[in-house]
Amino acid sequence: MSAPRILAFSGSLRKDSFNQKLAAIAAAGARDAGAEVTLIELRDFPMPLFDQDLEAASGKPEEAKRLKDLFLSHQGLIIASPEYNSAYSAALKNAIDWVSRGDSADEPPISALAGKSAVIMAASPGGLGGLRGLVPLRMLLGNLGITLLPDQIAIPSALNAFGPDGQLVDPKQEEKVKALGAALATHLRKSLG
Ligand SMILES: Cc1cc2nc3c(=O)[nH]c(=O)nc-3n(C[C@H](O)[C@H](O)[C@H](O)COP(=O)(O)O)c2cc1C
Repeated sequence: MSAPRILAFSGSLRKDSFNQKLAAIAAAGARDAGAEVTLIELRDFPMPLFDQDLEAASGKPEEAKRLKDLFLSHQGLIIASPEYNSAYSAALKNAIDWVSRGDSADEPPISALAGKSAVIMAASPGGLGGLRGLVPLRMLLGNLGITLLPDQIAIPSALNAFGPDGQLVDPKQEEKVKALGAALATHLRKSLG
């Protein structure tokens, strides 16, 4: 079969986001395992807060359409999720809300999400590494029909965890994150046949 396709991104809009760096490391691991990975930054897809009146009046914004097309053309997701007040970021939820919407009467909602497989991870300056935010994220994605691999990673003390090159300072941690990306590639290869 052809290489599984994975879309990798973080839920942060911040230029120097730790989670974006984390997504890039997992993406490298998935690539090493033979997946075709598209690494994107949500900040390149600026979209308004989802508003059903706005959607009814003018449809999906171009950036949301572009993001939805990317979801549709990939089978797997690597998501590194910043923890904001013990949950995922509003930017991540907003992107998912826009992507979840059908574009025609015969397109059911969540068709760009259901059936995908995903791995999730987090990094935070705090001691728990954003672990608490992964709990509601797992629930959210599961409810959308996405298969979540059971393994996940939270990187604490993120201010000191990443080197200037964007890699993790601890080589064992770096390997674990790469292995998580690789696990998604392997899972997809098996499940896609
Ligand atoms: C509104 C807000 C709420 C936050 N809440 C948490 C939190 O609950 N737990 C935590 O570990 N860090 C929290 N942080 C700190 C973030 O983990 C930190 O800003 C991190 O760098 C965000 O991820 P990023 O580097 O990928 O942008 C919060 C930050 C903001 C701005």
